[in-house]
Amino acid sequence: MRITFRFLLLLVPTLAMVVLGFSFAMQSLEHRWVKFDLGHRSRLISDSIQDQVISLASEKKSAALQKLLNRVSRDSRLQGLIVCGRSGELAGRSELAPKSEGCQGVAALAEREPEFIDFNGMELHRAVYPLIDEQGLRQGHLLAYHDPSYMAKRGRTTRIYALLAFLGLGLVIALVTVLVYRWSVSRPIEQISHAIRSVLSGDFSKLGKALEQPEFAPLVRNIDKVVRELRQARLGAADAPGGLWTAARLRQEVQRLFGDSRVCVVANREPYIHNRKGKAIEVQFPASGLVSAVEPIVRACSGIWIGHGSGSADKETSDKNGILLVPPGNPEYALKRVWLTREEEQGYYYGFSNEGLWPLCHIAHTRPSFRSEDWKAYQDVNTKFAQAFIEEIKSERPIALIQDYHFALLPGMLRKLRPDAVTSLFWHIPWPNSEAIGICPWKEELLLGMLGADLIGFHTQYHCNNFLDSVDRFLEARVDRDNFSVTIRGHTCVVKPFPISVEWPPRHDLAAAEIPKARAQLLEELSIAPDALVGIGVDRVDYTKGIIERFLAVERLLEKHPELVGRFVFLQIGAPSRTHIKRYQDLNSEVQEVTDRINWKFRKPGYEPIVLRLSHHDSQEVYRFYRAADVCIVSSLHDGMNLVAKEYISSRSDESGSLVLSSFTGAARELSDAIIVNPYDTDKTAEGIYHALTMRPEERQARMARLRQTVASNNVYAWAADFLKEIHSIAQRQSQRGGLIQRTRSAKGETA
Ligand code: G6P
Repeated sequence: MRITFRFLLLLVPTLAMVVLGFSFAMQSLEHRWVKFDLGHRSRLISDSIQDQVISLASEKKSAALQKLLNRVSRDSRLQGLIVCGRSGELAGRSELAPKSEGCQGVAALAEREPEFIDFNGMELHRAVYPLIDEQGLRQGHLLAYHDPSYMAKRGRTTRIYALLAFLGLGLVIALVTVLVYRWSVSRPIEQISHAIRSVLSGDFSKLGKALEQPEFAPLVRNIDKVVRELRQARLGAADAPGGLWTAARLRQEVQRLFGDSRVCVVANREPYIHNRKGKAIEVQFPASGLVSAVEPIVRACSGIWIGHGSGSADKETSDKNGILLVPPGNPEYALKRVWLTREEEQGYYYGFSNEGLWPLCHIAHTRPSFRSEDWKAYQDVNTKFAQAFIEEIKSERPIALIQDYHFALLPGMLRKLRPDAVTSLFWHIPWPNSEAIGICPWKEELLLGMLGADLIGFHTQYHCNNFLDSVDRFLEARVDRDNFSVTIRGHTCVVKPFPISVEWPPRHDLAAAEIPKARAQLLEELSIAPDALVGIGVDRVDYTKGIIERFLAVERLLEKHPELVGRFVFLQIGAPSRTHIKRYQDLNSEVQEVTDRINWKFRKPGYEPIVLRLSHHDSQEVYRFYRAADVCIVSSLHDGMNLVAKEYISSRSDESGSLVLSSFTGAARELSDAIIVNPYDTDKTAEGIYHALTMRPEERQARMARLRQTVASNNVYAWAADFLKEIHSIAQRQSQRGGLIQRTRSAKGETA
């Protein structure tokens, strides 16, 4: 589109200049034509009345001469005629002949070419011809005056038509060129770039068609060469232990491990939410660590995602089975939306999941609430998703990647409904100790449901240990702490840590050299001084995230270091979350109140220390904020992993910026080069921020370089690959065991 715009931008002024030049040229040409035409006309008049004029003048019949001249001058284009006698005296003139004109110097005028003269500001054409009698003797002169304005008028009209014709032609040319451009250049380029993108994520299939464009033959040959080399390199890298995991490598790994088996993610939150805004429909990518981590995996595997259709325009944007292809505009996998009633959503999502399990698993001092009607809705919705799975997934040995605390019962249900499925559950939030779990009235059912999976993943070994303790305490099961597995009712479930991560390189990567400019631009937009020290926090507004504790630490920082007042600005992006729940509503008001109080305390003209943005920001915007920040503060009171910490690191290709990280996040176990703080300790957290802001640039750079190394090599594709490899080896063990049982039965003469 930009090229089209540039083309029009160039075409319109060029066309205007051509038309202008053309009209100037036309004007001077017209002037010459008019002069010639009127001269000719004057000559005709002179020739046609010459004899009459000579005779009337010689007979001194002035009245008759006057009458003749007036009659001839009745022609609207002829202004007037003057007749001069043989000796240069005035013999007659028509009524409207210019008053100031006479016979003085007429002989000299007759020598000149007809010309334009100025008569009281009006342009007139004057032609002087000798009057020659039959003997060839000069008997005087005739002066003819024409008004050329009619010619000018005609010229103007001609020019306007010419102009319109030019413009019309120009527009037609523009339209045709744009169409030709779109068909022959932009569309093939789009196809080629789409194909290259697919190649980068491991899909070579689209390349063939895109490369059929004959116009791009030389380009195509080179791309083809690069692709072949890339494919070789990829194959090499996939085999190389320690090689960086990419989407393409993951795709190949999935194909190698599972062949045609379908990979199906089941997660409550859908990756694309369609919402109605007036007449328009907007697509939103939700603020969810789970979604940002798992979505690249489904894209890489061209799998399917089953999630709750929660957007106000979700129904109208999917087919009758709730299915649509996503990402919108660049489809790579299928999203199946499951519809829930208001009661189901209330009981299962708001109630049991987010007022029960969420506070139960996070030690953040919010009391969990367990209500039997919520439990009922939770069971019903898990059943609904199990049905959606069996309706949608018909292929053999599908791989079910069930996500999070919304679906603790689903693995057990799938075990009964689709025993051939390889089922896994990844628990994205912490698993507390068994005393805490003991609070839940339905803990046994939950644990049993979870153990229906072949593999359960947590972010840390600590959470795995807590889970095994809980199973040991509340169920009759064999817990194998050497191999980290649980066997119950003849089924074994492996329990292992898989620390989740982010895409690498990030989708919104920016070259290091571009970062200072991007930072300056954002600070200007936010009216923050370019030399300010900037902190950033990005969270859903959730009581587990320690947002209030973070603000209190900022307050303490400014109290202890007054030189930072006016200099340090903390930007907090808070995505509204679960706002139907009272605790979340209260938190929203609390965050606002604390912000107002601190801003009031340190306010100066043009300065407030905390800039609070309580609205949804898409990931591209969030990355802009990360890059503008000298320090990112993650102060969760309890967090399974926390991907904001890793996203901040991935955004800093300039190896700048510092991370202040709560010790209560899963991320703190991997990111030891961050400044680790206890968010409950306000003084120490403030000191941590101060250290982050004032450390030597070399130290900052060295820390960030190491952090980047850690996140790059443990990126989300590596996480998925580890998880899937584990599932694969479990599936293989099961098949061998199945084969063995089959062989034993056959040997005993039993039927299966
Ligand atoms: C956490 C949970 C996710 C959830 C996300 C956002 O990261 O582990 O399962 O999607 O919060 O919360 P929401 O309730 O909006 O999906």
